[in-house]
This record gives sequence, C-alpha cells and structure tokens, in this order.
Amino acid sequence: MPRLSRRIAAIAESATLAVDTKAKALKAAGEDVIGFGAGEPDFPTPDYIVEAAIKACSDPASHKYTPTPGLPELRAAVAEKTARDSGFAVEAANVLITNGGKQAVYNAFAALCDPGDEVLLPAPYWVTYPEAIALAGGNPVVLPTDETTGFKVTVEQLQAAYTPRTKALLFVSPSNPTGAVYSREEIEAIGRWAVDHEVWVVTDEIYEHLTYGGADFHSMPVVVPELADTCIVINGVAKTYAMTGWRVGWLIAPADVVKATGNLQTHCTSNVGNVSQRAALAAVRGDLSAVAMMREAFDRRRLIMVGLLNDIPGVTCLEPDGAFYCFPSFKGVLGRDIGGRRANDTLELSEIILEQAKVAIVPGEAFGAPGYARLAYALGDDDLVDGVTRIAKLLAG
Ligand SMILES: Cc1ncc(COP(=O)(O)O)c(C=O)c1O
Repeated sequence: MPRLSRRIAAIAESATLAVDTKAKALKAAGEDVIGFGAGEPDFPTPDYIVEAAIKACSDPASHKYTPTPGLPELRAAVAEKTARDSGFAVEAANVLITNGGKQAVYNAFAALCDPGDEVLLPAPYWVTYPEAIALAGGNPVVLPTDETTGFKVTVEQLQAAYTPRTKALLFVSPSNPTGAVYSREEIEAIGRWAVDHEVWVVTDEIYEHLTYGGADFHSMPVVVPELADTCIVINGVAKTYAMTGWRVGWLIAPADVVKATGNLQTHCTSNVGNVSQRAALAAVRGDLSAVAMMREAFDRRRLIMVGLLNDIPGVTCLEPDGAFYCFPSFKGVLGRDIGGRRANDTLELSEIILEQAKVAIVPGEAFGAPGYARLAYALGDDDLVDGVTRIAKLLAG
C-alpha cells in the first residue's frame, strides 16, 4: 500500500511559489538575486485598509468565527463592487468569501467535477488550474495556444475538444501567465459557445483592473447574460489592492453552487480570518485610486521589460495587454552554448539563469508551454532593468 494517497502524491508543487522560495533563500544566504518569479505587487497595502485591520484587531467581535460564507457586510460590499466594476448585477447571496482566489478556484472545480469530467483548459495556464481540476477528479483537457493568436483560445479549438464529458471551461482574461486580454467580441463568441453546449464557465477576473493601452476588461456573464446560471466568477483583493498576504478572495455563483461550496468550507476552513475580512471590506468599499497608481507603474515597467527582452537575440516577446507578466519565447536560445552549458529546454535554461546570472524566472513548462518563461514586472524599475540586462549579458556569452 502506498504511504501517501495517489491523489495527494500526484500534486505538483506550485512552480511559481517554488521559484520564489528558491530566490528568497538565495537572497537570505547573501546572494544578489533578482526575482521575477512572484505574482505579487511590490507595493504595500494602502494605509486606509491597514488602519481598518488595526481597528478590527482591538474589537473583540473580530476575534470570533464569522459565518462560513463570509461577513454579511463583506458579501454585500463585494456584490456592490462587482456591479460597479464589471456591471455584473448579483446579490450578496451569490458571493462566497474564500481564502484567496486560490480557494475559490479549488471550490469551483470541487463543486462541478465528477470523476472523469473534462475541463477545457487553454494553455499557457496558471499553474493552479490543472491541479485543482485533478484534485476534484476532473480531467484537464489542455488546449495549446501561442503567439499566432496572441495566446488566446479560439471557438474552433473548443469545438474540436468538445465531448459529451465536457463539463466546464476555464477562462481567464487578463491572463496569468501571458498577459493576454480577450476583446468583447472574442468573449461573446466563447460565452455563446459555452451556453449552446451547456458547458459551465469558470472565469477568473482577478486581474480585472490591470489592462493597458487600448485593452479593456469585460466580464463574460455581462457580455453573455444567458451564462449567469452556469458561470462561476473568481476574484479577490490580492492584485487590486496589493493584499496578497491577507488571503481574501471570493467566488460569485448561482445560489446552489454558493450553498454547496459553503458546505465544503464548513468542513475545511470554516471562514476566512475575521480581521482580514474587515480589511477586505475597507478595500472594496473604498475607491480605486491605489490600483490606478499601481497600474501606471506596471504599464511603464511592462514597456521597459518588453523592449529589453526583444533586444536579446533569440528572445521574442509579445506586448502583454494586462496583468503584470511578460511571457517571452526563449526557443531561439535553446541548444546554444551559455557560459559553457547548454539548455535543451526552458527548465534547464531557468536553472542556468538562476545559477549564473542570479535571476529567477519561471520556466514555461510549469504553465504547459515549454520554450517560454514567465517574468513578473511587479518589481522596482532598477531591479527590473538590472535583471533583464543580466539575462541579456549571459545569453550574449
Ligand atoms: C490568475 C490567478 N487567479 C487567482 C489567483 C489567486 O490569488 P490569491 O489566492 O492570492 O487571491 C492568482 C494568483 O496568483 C492568479 O494569478
């Protein structure tokens, strides 16, 4: 009999967290490492949110459990914020507060998948999706995309992959790891296809406020209202308010899904930390000035990073339209001599870059896209330029 269950033993560690941990360990050991691994804003949480949390700490009411689906006032505020920001009109009863968007993703697939159900998963995908689908007993059906479609999946691909076991589609725009942002027309076509085929959509809107240039965010159930009864929206405070460590996210779903996933939470986490929920309440009730300031910085860094990456011979990078990641192709440098070593894939390349240039990047293999790597531009301008310049120097030999 195996020591660990097959289900748990099969889970791969989050590659993005692993890269970040390695980079932080090297830094702690005194190495001058620049980390492009972590998917978190480098800004502190805005003061008014921190103050709300400090106040909550001294209020005995927030030393207690909250209702499992979340503080009623936070659920109501999330419903209001959703109508304000994306135009999706929902009730507080449609909102379940979760331990970060990550738990909302896990809950969504736990609610939808029976063993063997298929979930369409466009690649490059965020590392957590396939694991959450598999943990729920579902089969991720990976649909590869590349630069030729701007890393966007097409309705033709969805149709070709469709079987009677297709239960759901994972959709994310703006995307982690590619930064792709789908147009309203593209979202409408995909949403209509899902309605016509009775396929659920799990749509991750966590980067809704981070779009650049001419790109605009659109919420799928707003563009295709017929989807509302078979759609789960994932969101949270982490990226919009620089609150990654507070662990507050949510899902928005039809009442039966909120009830079922709430039941699940009663047995695994009970509720999100009370003080964190009160901080999140201040965040979503407040304005969007903090994210406007961050977006401006990310936009500037995005253009700097894309320019520097495209100047490296053998590296090509599409301009990302959203989130805070560049997803360049390194295919042109694989197989070449790099400081006496040869990288045959981007896993090896990332190792060489970390060892020799002291720069942490996440290999595309982690996102189902070998040949590429993800670099977050959520770090200071000087480090960003220094980090990409180090890669350029190493690759130039
Ligand atoms: C696409 C996407 N969805 C959801 C999350 C979850 O964020 P959190 O659990 O920190 O709220 C992340 C975090 O990296 C993400 O990139």
